[in-house]
Amino acid sequence: MAFEKNILCIGAGYVGGPTMAVIAAKCPQYKVVVVDVDKEKIKAWNSDHLPIYEPGLDELVEKTRNRNLFFSADNAKGIEEAEIIFVSVNTPTKTFGHGAGKAADLQYWEKTAREILAHSKSSKIVVEKSTLPVRTASAMERILNENSKSIHFEVVSNPEFLAEGTAIQDLESPDRVLIGSRESPEGIKARKAIVEIYAHWVPRERIIQSNVWSSELSKLTANAFLAQRISSINSISALCEKTEADIDEVAHAIGMDSRIGPKFLKASVGFGGSCFKKDILNLVYICDSYGLEKVARYWEAVVEINEWQESRFIQNMLENMFSTVAGKRIALFGFAFKANTGDTRESPAIYVAQGLLAEKAEVVITDPKALKNARKDLKDFKKRVIFEADPYKAAKGAHAVAVLTEWDVYRDLDYRRILKSMVQPAFLFDGRNILDHKKLFEMGYNVFAIGKAPLKHF
Ligand code: NAD
Ligand code: UGA
Repeated sequence: MAFEKNILCIGAGYVGGPTMAVIAAKCPQYKVVVVDVDKEKIKAWNSDHLPIYEPGLDELVEKTRNRNLFFSADNAKGIEEAEIIFVSVNTPTKTFGHGAGKAADLQYWEKTAREILAHSKSSKIVVEKSTLPVRTASAMERILNENSKSIHFEVVSNPEFLAEGTAIQDLESPDRVLIGSRESPEGIKARKAIVEIYAHWVPRERIIQSNVWSSELSKLTANAFLAQRISSINSISALCEKTEADIDEVAHAIGMDSRIGPKFLKASVGFGGSCFKKDILNLVYICDSYGLEKVARYWEAVVEINEWQESRFIQNMLENMFSTVAGKRIALFGFAFKANTGDTRESPAIYVAQGLLAEKAEVVITDPKALKNARKDLKDFKKRVIFEADPYKAAKGAHAVAVLTEWDVYRDLDYRRILKSMVQPAFLFDGRNILDHKKLFEMGYNVFAIGKAPLKHF
């Protein structure tokens, strides 16, 4: 069958895989190919065990794979055949040289641009899907268009706003799709070509068009605002713990103001995930590099509060467990950075586990989907960490349970049974405020939640 359009995506990760699966499902007339340098990952995308867990993803891939969705390790062929290339490679924080610890590491991005240039025989639209510093498109254009092949590349920005755990839902009915380009006739034409793809399933009024710099900056700004709400509510949670105000009640009360709104006001042990911290630090770096020191410090504080919240959680465990956890078994319920994903990148659970291990605790980790990644994250502590799929077994003989991911399964456990199997007095630290604290206290637990007065029997 001849396809109407050939679309390529470079980078088969959390963004590339699900995004292309949705495009393939919604546009059966397009051929969609996803390539990656990681051959094992491509193998997994072509198997029954996909490399990432996302609700609804398996079914979607099963429906489209080898129909109009193809996973391949042949970058060169993919590039040569495509008219539109989405680039969704990783853009982590730089760990070396100038800007280390803040700036985005653009090496994978630049390698991709050079690879596109090397294998292209015709003009193409290159779409920035990765999250990038504002003005990256200009560097991309320079690399691509200074060529002697008489071909032209139009660079379009189309940042992705999906959240893990709800990726398919977010892609199928997004709040908005943002497409930015140069305002030149070629730029507008390229922008329209991308609009046409999304218009197959996204209502036109939800497809926003803008200049390319606004589009790049909107992505960093959206993540900064979302993270800022969490740091704001978490900062108030500390005040609640001192004053007997209850953070969930405060969040509910302020969230009912339609100007504030109820979302992203859930106090927690801290935000995790691969992007919030990296994107804010990148914003901080950009502001600093433009001499906007005050703006940089303002956003930096969002990350600082988050780190403080994580360390406060560990400190609280330590202080309440008679100032020592050495030799004590502590069960961590959840290791993923949020529910419904196996992703543990920047998960607060990593910091909590490391903090407890530094205090010589014996840490037992349980999680429905993230144990494989947890093992990798804690490989340096292999001998002192136990990984256990069954939460009842994880809690057996423990002095404390700490809920670190808001998996539904942890809401409905038999906590009476768990209590009986624990060392007394038993401690429960709810880092996600998902449990019925009063009920657990009445059962016999000493309960410590985020932003609430402690419920102690001593
Ligand atoms: P990821 O690490 O899961 O996937 C990136 C993939 O790119 C990897 O599989 C890597 O092997 C591949 N890659 C790197 N260089 C390559 C090259 N030269 N050729 C082919 N493949 C190459 O990352 P991710 O979570 O999918 O994020 C990708 C981008 O999207 C980042 O910029 C991120 O900030 C942004 N983003 C992520 C999310 C999310 O929820 N994870 C959401 C929105 C935006
Ligand atoms: C976030 C954004 O929500 C997406 O729009 C964006 O595309 C993505 O980052 C990205 O650029 O990578 P994600 O990190 O997958 O998505 O998940 P979120 O739902 O935003 O949660 C991030 C962290 O904040 C999690 O650890 C979560 O538990 C925590 N969180 C979230 C809270 O502590 N409280 C809340 O009220 C909401």
